[in-house]
Amino acid sequence: MEDVYKLENAEELLPVLDTFIDSFPNKKDEVIAVLHKAQDLFGYLPSELQLYIARKLDLPAAHIYGVVTFYSYFNEEKRGKYTINICMGTACFVKGADKVMNEFHRILGIKTGETTPDNLFTLTDVRCIGACGLAPVVMVNDKVFGHIHAEDVPGIIESYKNREKEEA
Ligand code: FES
Repeated sequence: MEDVYKLENAEELLPVLDTFIDSFPNKKDEVIAVLHKAQDLFGYLPSELQLYIARKLDLPAAHIYGVVTFYSYFNEEKRGKYTINICMGTACFVKGADKVMNEFHRILGIKTGETTPDNLFTLTDVRCIGACGLAPVVMVNDKVFGHIHAEDVPGIIESYKNREKEEA
């Protein structure tokens, strides 16, 4: 149980999560809402946090784990501020999504599933996101970029880096 306190900002974030959980009269029915809140707060759902939630909701840890792994929205690994999802579905693949992916690997210096050391970008692949008419498609968080080719990749990365500079 103590391990959860080793998570970044746990001392400050766990009470917020507790208050959220305690606001429900039937806590056991609110697994999805609680996991969403926990991921919003911590950015991901490591096993120690899942265990903490299981105890708070008085549910078996296996149940929480089952929900986390069922929904692709939930992440067990820490993610960067921007998750770059490259669609590797058939329509995108035949139009060169692998070249787009390779360019992200090359520029960011990370492989699929990894996060840059500055915690800014996480690179993932996804199956068809239902925008095949825009193939090849890249999503950065909720924003969709269509008809993307390898030569567009530096500009996309730069635009997010510039956004960071502006926010700093
Ligand atoms: S295959 Fe990429 S959006 Fe459908």
